[in-house]
Amino acid sequence: MAIFYGGDYNPEQWPEEVWPEDVELMRRAGVNLATVGVFSWARIQPEEGVFDFDWLDRVLDLLHAGGVAVDLATATASTPPWATYKYPDILTTTREGAIRWPGSRQHYAPTSPDYRRLASELVSALVDRYKDHPAVVMWHINNELGCHTTYDYSDQAAVAFRSWLVRRYGDIGSLNAAWGTTFWSQRYTGFEQIVPPRLTPAAVNPTQQLDFRRFSSDMLLELLRMEKRIIRDAGATQPITTNMMGAFPNADYWSWADELDVISDDSYPDPRDPHSFRTAAFGRDLMRSLKPGTPWILMEQAPNQVNWRPNNAVKAPGQMAAMSMQAVGRGADGVLFFQWRQAARGSEKFHSAMLPHAGPSTRTYREVAELGAALRTLGDLPAPGRDASVAIVLDWNCHWALDQPNHPARFNYLAQVQGWHAAFHELNIQVDIVRSTGPFDGYDVVVAPSLYLMSDASPLVQFVASGGCLFTTAYTDVADENDGFLPGGFTQRLGEALGLTVTDFAGVQGTEASYATNLRGEILREEIVLSGAEVLETFTDGTPALTRHPFGQGEAWHLATMATEADRVSLAARLATHRGITPVMADLPPNVEACARSGLITLINHNPTPVKLGDDELGPYEYRLSRANVSPPQA
Ligand code: GLA
Repeated sequence: MAIFYGGDYNPEQWPEEVWPEDVELMRRAGVNLATVGVFSWARIQPEEGVFDFDWLDRVLDLLHAGGVAVDLATATASTPPWATYKYPDILTTTREGAIRWPGSRQHYAPTSPDYRRLASELVSALVDRYKDHPAVVMWHINNELGCHTTYDYSDQAAVAFRSWLVRRYGDIGSLNAAWGTTFWSQRYTGFEQIVPPRLTPAAVNPTQQLDFRRFSSDMLLELLRMEKRIIRDAGATQPITTNMMGAFPNADYWSWADELDVISDDSYPDPRDPHSFRTAAFGRDLMRSLKPGTPWILMEQAPNQVNWRPNNAVKAPGQMAAMSMQAVGRGADGVLFFQWRQAARGSEKFHSAMLPHAGPSTRTYREVAELGAALRTLGDLPAPGRDASVAIVLDWNCHWALDQPNHPARFNYLAQVQGWHAAFHELNIQVDIVRSTGPFDGYDVVVAPSLYLMSDASPLVQFVASGGCLFTTAYTDVADENDGFLPGGFTQRLGEALGLTVTDFAGVQGTEASYATNLRGEILREEIVLSGAEVLETFTDGTPALTRHPFGQGEAWHLATMATEADRVSLAARLATHRGITPVMADLPPNVEACARSGLITLINHNPTPVKLGDDELGPYEYRLSRANVSPPQA
């Protein structure tokens, strides 16, 4: 099957006479997939109970005749004005109690019964009409679920939150115990007394906040399941996707992945940031890891500049293709854009498109067409396999517990996880992303940065016992799944494997966590009591900074601080050398990336300048793909 190539197509923004030109220019650019209908609700349903599909019939027929398949969106991402006028409960409320009004997009409350009813009617009507249309090859649920409005603090959200809490805890006594409500006189005597974590005079109960974030992620998941059920109950057989947003902080994508046939991602790295290709690589590895062994789709990226940064750089010639091939190299079977034709009106009119406002005689369209041709030559690509020996743990519950005040030091958990990924990426060592509960089999090294909150540590302990190498960093194994301490101190669950106990935490600044050698920790450092671990590095006062402990058939390392960016790279290299893990390609020049996809090696120069590879040279943003039986250029 050819790789999917195309983008969001919003024909309702244009007179019908323009559509044939669209399809012709798509054909010339090599487009074979268009995502249609993402924001078409108001056009499809002009009023409640009235559907107008004639125009959409003509769009789908035209695309089909032109050889362009359709990823049909369910159009539920933005309710029309008639809906919010008639049913104002669709709107969301901020923490402060202000209403988020219509006039923009994605203003619906995930818990609103009216939103759910209207969305269900829309999806049913769409699926009934198009489930057998030959153009439709995929269903695209909603759009970036949770973008803009994950958190709703309205009264109806409070009702849904209470039901969710009843399901989780059963009785109010269990909730009181889990939330620790003896503190600050917070004890509840009935679920009806509970509200979402609205604006409070001082810090809100941390478990209330954590549960509200879990609940809010689950409400989005309920929407996903609701639409999926309607699609399947109607008998539609096409694969179902929804476009994710990398390591989106507000939704536990691990719980979504099982619901989807195809994982897809939206990715907008800043072309001006020379390191954004590393963050993008993290997103690509995450998407591949969400459903191991299956390809995913890059559903949206910008063909050139976006409109929503304060200052929007254009992509350098070749940069868009390089980033697209990064996705392919890391497991994507589709490269799509937001959007096909540049909007002439509305707040995204300065966002680039595959077909710019200035027409096809533009660098952007030329590069789009060149990439389309290049992708066609790739033919069938292997499914991503087990190319990584290293896995990095990512846990959204941990992020939600840590993204709150009142810790020894505030830090961004997701940035720590991405930072460790970036370190291995810089070394061109292939990495998968994993859940905190695994599975870990097949990996040699598992890195768990600041795994503060844990529900079940036994898979990690088992991984070490059976021969794996675990590497943890400060602030790991601190709290139970409800963000409370376990009786008896910290590191209750991993301490035996780590050969130590953590006894206290100190926030640090400047050089307060310098090691005796030239390494330097940051953010916080731990006080440790050893129980078998050997000390590999000490802080300047002689206390342990880095330890290693043989346990069972394996070993567990612990860093009693957070590493700086540079130190993460040297520690990752030390770990790799120790375990005999080799990069996809060694000794590449800085900012040259190599990744593996079951025998397909992708090499990309992310520098705006040429680089030497032995006698060979890679031009600015040049990429090369080589199959395993063809040797890649030697560094
Ligand atoms: C997101 C949305 C698109 C569009 C782009 C702009 O990805 O899904 O509709 O707004 O951002 O970058």
